[in-house]
Amino acid sequence: MASAADTAAPSARKKPTLDTLSPSQIEAIRRIPAHDSGQKPVPIADWLDPVIKKTRPASIFLDPARFDLEQRSVFRRLPVPLMPAARLPEAGDVVAFDGYGPALIVARGRDGVVRTFHNACQHKGSKLVETCEVHKAARLICPYHSWTYGLDGRLLAAARSEMFTDFDKSEYRLSSLPTREYAGMIWAVLDPEVEPDWSGMDDGFAEDMAHLGLPTAHVYNHRRFQIDANWKLVLEPFMESYHVTRLHASSIGDLFTDMASICTKLGPHQRKVAGKIQFKPSDLDIPGENIHKTVTHAYQVFPNATVITSPYYISMMVLMPIAVDRTNVDYYMLLPQKPDNEKAESIASRSYELILRVFGEEDFRAARITQEGLASGGLKTVTYGGMENTIPTYYDQLESHFLTNE
Ligand code: FES
Ligand SMILES: [Fe+2]
Repeated sequence: MASAADTAAPSARKKPTLDTLSPSQIEAIRRIPAHDSGQKPVPIADWLDPVIKKTRPASIFLDPARFDLEQRSVFRRLPVPLMPAARLPEAGDVVAFDGYGPALIVARGRDGVVRTFHNACQHKGSKLVETCEVHKAARLICPYHSWTYGLDGRLLAAARSEMFTDFDKSEYRLSSLPTREYAGMIWAVLDPEVEPDWSGMDDGFAEDMAHLGLPTAHVYNHRRFQIDANWKLVLEPFMESYHVTRLHASSIGDLFTDMASICTKLGPHQRKVAGKIQFKPSDLDIPGENIHKTVTHAYQVFPNATVITSPYYISMMVLMPIAVDRTNVDYYMLLPQKPDNEKAESIASRSYELILRVFGEEDFRAARITQEGLASGGLKTVTYGGMENTIPTYYDQLESHFLTNE
């Protein structure tokens, strides 16, 4: 089935051919078996059994105590992705961001450095920035009494400061969160009291993202979804290929094959590559072919994001748990460059609507109806088979970070 997703060709695009990928990506793609290898399990990674029966208690999706443990141990303690770095491409780009709950500001300063602040004026707490759309700002001016901050968080000016005893501007710096740009994404540690641990910033993963063009991409559009499901249920369909030809039978399912993907660990992150329906190993050496037409890259970005390639764009999603049964998802469509003519714009916009429909009405629906089914109390455990085998592995990794006492 042809789809807008597969025909969107911006006019002057940078073409992603096999040789634009990293040696590690190429090596993984060359291990994708031919489809005529049949239904028998194929070895997809030496650290994953192709045939498994693993379980998890249903309570990991339902229990508020488990949600709190994940928040304390992972989401408030480890670096989490906020958005693609390409969302704030230039010095002076500023946005309010509340995806994880707390009101934050993300700003690229005049020095090019991205910083994250609590969105709270140090006078009496008013939010400084109200729009969640990216805009240019030379400084942050509080709407209440006009205290004015630099994009580095310093208080530059306070109106009528002579009316405060011993006023010292340096005591009123904005509260900031440890922030880094890594692999084309902006990361922050949401608890400023925690000593940041950046050890998950794996070079191999950053190299993959660089070869996909993530750091230099154009953010074509984005949308916030609010999903009534545990964040892990939202994540699961993006970690397995078992559902693809089934859940997506009426949309994109017949572009894909019913085979497990080749999996590679990149630090705490995972890469999965899979051949689409027209994939033939012998075609890989035809020069100049768009590799994303025949091969899909899907990354599980630890702990809570995904990056998925399509022929002419990349999808990035950040999954932000709000409650045990509620998740914010920010979807971003990234193009190699801004569409530069009407046709490219129209194709990009049709691709955007299609992908939002597939994710929004199919994958997110699966998450929602699974949450409702599990909440019925009708099963104590969920079961994972060989085509879902990265999921229990991922949960082992997640749980290895859980604090045991406090
Ligand atoms: S609360 Fe911001 S200036 Fe008063
Ligand atoms: Fe899916």
